[in-house]
Amino acid sequence: MTAEQDPVKVMKQEVGKAAAARVQSGSIVGLGTGSTTAYTIEYLGSRLKSGELKDIKGIPTSFQASVLAKQYGIPLTTLDEVDHIDIAIDGADEVDPQKNLIKGGGAAHTREKIVDTLAEQFIVVVDSSKLVDKLGSTFLLPVEVIPMAMTPVMRAIEKLGGKPELRMGVKKAGPVITDQGNMVIDVKFDFIDNPAELEKTLNNIPGVLENGLFVGVTDLVLVGEVKDGQPTVREF
Ligand code: A5P
Repeated sequence: MTAEQDPVKVMKQEVGKAAAARVQSGSIVGLGTGSTTAYTIEYLGSRLKSGELKDIKGIPTSFQASVLAKQYGIPLTTLDEVDHIDIAIDGADEVDPQKNLIKGGGAAHTREKIVDTLAEQFIVVVDSSKLVDKLGSTFLLPVEVIPMAMTPVMRAIEKLGGKPELRMGVKKAGPVITDQGNMVIDVKFDFIDNPAELEKTLNNIPGVLENGLFVGVTDLVLVGEVKDGQPTVREF
């Protein structure tokens, strides 16, 4: 790694490529969202182009993933046309020691959860800054909400002890709008002791479409690290 390279970017690149290297010809592949999986999609495209990988089909988890897949020449399919997903590769915002996740930093967690949970193998790709002892320690929990239910959902979340804030757009006036046409609130909980229970409780509030807790879904985490100035990838 040269001095002018951004170490986080290098870790993301390496781990994104390492996951793409695990995809086999003939697979149906869930394509994750975010800056790390962007490298996975790019590398899958170059493996297809070189002929080393053949006959894969991607299922995108977002508009971003489908745009990148088209850009890098990955044929796409839909959940109506396949009866299984062999492998899904996706990023995360936090990973705890049980491999539970917080996702949704890109507001794509609803489609991500659909695709990632259907996959026979779900691989998470992160740089080492995403590893935490407890979920919620560094990242607010994203919750996708149907717009007309925003106020009652926020009140219900406050009753659960959370502090919700509406996610606002960057270079866009007003709130972030998801690929489904909904809004996202980011919730601060002082601690998330039981992610499995909180995941269900939040999804049970009328008007909540999906939250960013992914519990018991991950098969393998690939972690990008820089050691002695060299990028490495380890499994956990
Ligand atoms: C998208 O909504 C998220 O779940 C992303 O997968 C997550 O934010 C990781 O993104 P980066 O790879 O850009 O850190």
